[in-house]
Amino acid sequence: MILARLSQPADFEGWRDEARRLVGQGAPPEAISWLVAGEEDLFSGDAGVEVAEMEAPAALRVPRAFPELAETVICHRDPERFGLLYRLLLRLQAEPSLLTVATDDDVHRAEAMARTVRRDMHKMTAFVRFREVREEGEEPVFVAWFEPEHFILKRVSSFFTGRFATMRWSILTPQGSLHWDGTSLRMGEGATRAQAPDDDAMEAYWRCYYANIFNPARLKTDAMRKEMPVRYWRNLPEAELIAPLIAGAARQAEEMVMRAPTLPPERHLRQQARMVPAPSTDLESFENWEQAAAAARDCKRCDLCRDATQTVFGEGPLDAPVIFVGEQPGDQEDLAGRPFVGPAGRLFDAALEEAGLARERAYVTNAVKHFKFSLRGKRRIHERPNAGEVQACRFWLGIERQFLKPQLVVALGATAVSSLMGRTMSLSSVRGRDVTLEDGAPMLATVHPSYLLRLPDEARRGEERERFVADLRRIGELVPELKRRRAA
Ligand code: URA
Repeated sequence: MILARLSQPADFEGWRDEARRLVGQGAPPEAISWLVAGEEDLFSGDAGVEVAEMEAPAALRVPRAFPELAETVICHRDPERFGLLYRLLLRLQAEPSLLTVATDDDVHRAEAMARTVRRDMHKMTAFVRFREVREEGEEPVFVAWFEPEHFILKRVSSFFTGRFATMRWSILTPQGSLHWDGTSLRMGEGATRAQAPDDDAMEAYWRCYYANIFNPARLKTDAMRKEMPVRYWRNLPEAELIAPLIAGAARQAEEMVMRAPTLPPERHLRQQARMVPAPSTDLESFENWEQAAAAARDCKRCDLCRDATQTVFGEGPLDAPVIFVGEQPGDQEDLAGRPFVGPAGRLFDAALEEAGLARERAYVTNAVKHFKFSLRGKRRIHERPNAGEVQACRFWLGIERQFLKPQLVVALGATAVSSLMGRTMSLSSVRGRDVTLEDGAPMLATVHPSYLLRLPDEARRGEERERFVADLRRIGELVPELKRRRAA
């Protein structure tokens, strides 16, 4: 039996050095006994087993994901973790993409261990509760008691040094302790619960706060139990409130329903008074596109009309087979009153040209018709419209679509996707998929040209631009009428 010694249970550096040494010696996994300092050596006195040495690989190579996985797995309590990682390390030399094989026993086990460790770390970051300890004439120290399931103390320490950087604190656990003096971190011996304070002057305030933020109408006990397992309750000051709060929740929720509704703050009422009533949302309000475009000029459906120069309605032939929908007019579009005429518009034009499409045959518009910006000195900096603004402007986009009835609607970016789908959605969830909108119109989604302008890396920008042009070419295949006709 070959002994591999580690200084402590989650000694990743020690494991890595030992693993390198043992691989160099050609030691097979089953011949190694991993021994953590202070733990009993079950094999001392063992005469040893005959082991067939293996051929040592020339140089160790591992995929990028392995060190992170190993550093996490090594924190697990399972005594077999060291051997498992060593076996994975060896296998990765012959099978470099092994970690992508989720069904492989070793990979599956390591991933499961890593998940358990991450969960333990997450619980520790959520459930550590500090209590203030004041010694005469000394700065206060905040002390917490916690019982992690795995050896995560060192790994989770950066969370606490970052989050509570300016406090002096100690976290005591049975395995060891962390002590932060405001500048440096020291790891110390394990402790007992009795060494940690179990109350302080702030605790009553904390309980009061917790009781106040508890919303009986949203009570979901199963989810609570899952998120906050009972084993952590012992150290949570708010735990003693949980049972009475749950018991009284149904009655409290009933009382909430019976109570008169809370009036909105006055500033909301003032805002509302400034808004012109929203036009009715049916197409019948307008006889044609021209009437709708004229009415949109006075749109006050949201606050964006206050600072923008003008409404930028869509433009293009009313029998266009394709509608392109962007996000909102930019600085130049706001001044010109026309969509996609600024830098993003120029990139859009060039990409259409490259894909062989004719912009003049398409209708181009935006999900939001007013420019949203914040002022930085004299510059107007684009700001993303929020969900309420997108929702308010869906009315106009709906009208444009109903008058045009295009064969295809193209969403440029996530705002357009969300507006067309009627709910917040990411672009990646629909890009490249054939999507049918609620009214039956087919939609295709691609990136917004501004996204390409913002990419800092030139190579990446080139790749993404090619993907964009490929998406536009696909539009040409779906709707050949949009293709630029070549001069004979
Ligand atoms: N970005 C858009 O989404 N639309 C424009 O019109 C210009 C820039």
